[in-house]
Amino acid sequence: MKGLILSGGKGTRLYPLTYTRAKQLIPVANEPVLFRVIRAIRDAGIHDIGIVVGDTAAEIREAVGDGSRWGVGITYIPQSAPAGLAHAVKESLPFIGDDRFVMFLGDNVIQGGISSLIRQFADSHWNSQIVLTAVNDPRQYGVAELNGDGSIKRLIEKPKEPPSNLALVGIYMFDRHIREAVHAIKPSFRNELEITDAIQWLVDQGHAVHPYIHKGWWIDTGKPGDMLNANDHVLEEVSPRIEGAVDAASKVDFRVTVERGAVIENSVVRGPTIIGEDTVIRDSYIGPFTSIYHHCLIEFSEIEHSIVLENSKILDVPYRIADSIIGRNATITRSEIKPKAIKMNLGDYSQVGIL
Ligand code: DAU
Repeated sequence: MKGLILSGGKGTRLYPLTYTRAKQLIPVANEPVLFRVIRAIRDAGIHDIGIVVGDTAAEIREAVGDGSRWGVGITYIPQSAPAGLAHAVKESLPFIGDDRFVMFLGDNVIQGGISSLIRQFADSHWNSQIVLTAVNDPRQYGVAELNGDGSIKRLIEKPKEPPSNLALVGIYMFDRHIREAVHAIKPSFRNELEITDAIQWLVDQGHAVHPYIHKGWWIDTGKPGDMLNANDHVLEEVSPRIEGAVDAASKVDFRVTVERGAVIENSVVRGPTIIGEDTVIRDSYIGPFTSIYHHCLIEFSEIEHSIVLENSKILDVPYRIADSIIGRNATITRSEIKPKAIKMNLGDYSQVGIL
C-alpha cells in the first residue's frame, strides 16, 4: 500500500500567514501539520509516500527532505494547477500504479490512532474506504447521506442544504478503480475535479465504498481559529518532557514541555503548553494551550491560548495576549517613542483586536 499526501493549493483563508508559508507547514504543538500526517501514514506501516505539491513546492521539499527522518521514502509530485483533489489523484497515477493507497489531506489534523483503520483497508476487499464524522456546520465540507443499512446513498461537495451532518474527513482509501473514476468525472461548480464526485462515481458503478464513522476530534485547519483549536487538541496529546533549563524561581506546570536549549527564568508556565528549542522565557507568564516555537524571546509579558512562530519576540507588553497567532520573525514590544499610541507594521490581511 502507498501513501499520498495533498500539499498543493493556496491556503488563502489563512492569510497573512500563508502569504509566506505553505499552510501545511504551520505548526501545531510545535510540529508542522504535514509532519504529523507523514507520521500517521508511517505508523500504519506505509513507507512509500508521494506528496503532491504546488506553488509552495520548494518550501515543502526543504522542510520534509527525502523522508529519512521518519524512515520513509518521499516522491514529490508537482501538480500542474490546483484544480481539485481528484485532479491531484489524476496527476499522481504514475506514482500510484495499481497499488491500494491512502490519501491524506496535508492540512487535516485528526486524533491519533487511525493507523489500524488504514491497515484494515489494506487487508479488506473494499474498493474504497472513506472517513465520516459529525460536524456542526456541514456546508463547508463534502457531506454524506447514508441509507438505513449504513451504506452510502449520496455524497455532495459543500451543499447549501446538507442532507446530514456527516462530513467527509480528509482521509480516503482507494484501490485501482479510482483511476477510472477520476477520468470519468467533470469539473464542479467551483471548477475543480472533486474527489467527492469520484467517490460518488464508484458508488454508482456498484463498487464497495465503506464509510467509517470517526468518533474522535478532527480539524480541517482552514482558518486561524481552526489552527488554535487544533493546537489545543494536540497539546493535550503531547507527553510532557523537560529538556531545557528551568530556574528555581520559575513555576512550570506538570503538563508543560520544554524543548532542548530552551530557558525559563523567573516565570510561570501553565500547561498544556510547549516551549520550543532555544526559546527564552524571562519574567513572564505563559498560560495554558500555548505553543511557542523555536528561537523566540518573551520578556516581561503574558500570553495564553496562542501560537507563536519561530524567531519572534514579545517584550514588555503591558496587556495579556490571548487567542492569537503570531507569525515568524515578528516583534511585539512597548515603545517609548512619543506619541503614546499603538504603532503597527502589519502584513496584508492581518487582524488585530484592541482592548
Ligand atoms: O478537509 C476535508 C474537506 O477537504 C472535505 O470535506 C471536502 O470534501 C474536500 O473537498 C476538501 O475540501 P476543502 O475545500 O477543505 O479542500 P482544500 O481546497 O482546502 O484542499 C485540501 C488539501 O488539498 C490542502 O492541503 C491543499 C490540497 N490541494 C487542494 C487542491 C484543490 C491540492 O494539493 N491540490 C488541489 O488541487
